[in-house]
Amino acid sequence: MSWQLRELTQRDTPRLAELELELFPEEDPWPASAFAAEIGQPHTFYVGVCSEEEPHYLVGYAGLAVLGPPSEPECEVHTIGVDPEFQGHGLGRLLLSNILAVADSLAAPIFLEVRTDNYPAINLYESTGFEKLGIRKNYYRPSGADAFCMKRPAQSPCPPPRRKD
Ligand SMILES: CC(C)(COP(=O)(O)OP(=O)(O)OC[C@H]1O[C@@H](n2cnc3c(N)ncnc32)[C@H](O)[C@@H]1OP(=O)(O)O)[C@@H](O)C(=O)NCCC(=O)NCCS
Repeated sequence: MSWQLRELTQRDTPRLAELELELFPEEDPWPASAFAAEIGQPHTFYVGVCSEEEPHYLVGYAGLAVLGPPSEPECEVHTIGVDPEFQGHGLGRLLLSNILAVADSLAAPIFLEVRTDNYPAINLYESTGFEKLGIRKNYYRPSGADAFCMKRPAQSPCPPPRRKD
């Protein structure tokens, strides 16, 4: 199957809410209205993945917010999820690298919270340079589950190639 990444729009919000409900049933999943409020904001970037055959049927999504003053931006991973039927095929990594590229283009650090028992997500984050900063007790509602707060430091822009004179 070949996959297509695209920026999300208001038309995607019902499918996003459906995926959220399936992926985060215990964590107060975002309804369509919550996605609608975030998508299209100047400080957010939401991307989705679908098959080329079915461009309107999302199988995964990720969202990032850029916060702080323009001179010292910080990013936050809002959410990331892949339809369980399509997990384990590289789509989570594809989505994450896409939103990380936005943070990297701003040379911004990026923060997130993840359930302390969510090993697939923690592995994914650690493999892309995130480190655990600490634990937030009772972070999730209504489950009361704890979260790790994680940070990926700002990536320095690539230096220009050196000339060989
Ligand atoms: C986390 C999630 C987005 C990963 O998506 P995915 O498409 O399955 O992930 P990928 O196939 O791209 O795998 C990327 C990496 O994630 C980690 N990973 C994925 N599935 C894993 C599993 N079952 N066990 C351990 N690590 C796993 C691995 O580090 C993997 O890298 P590798 O393939 O080189 O070993 C997906 O599991 C998901 O949607 N989970 C439910 C929603 C969620 O918890 N989101 C995070 C909220 S903070």
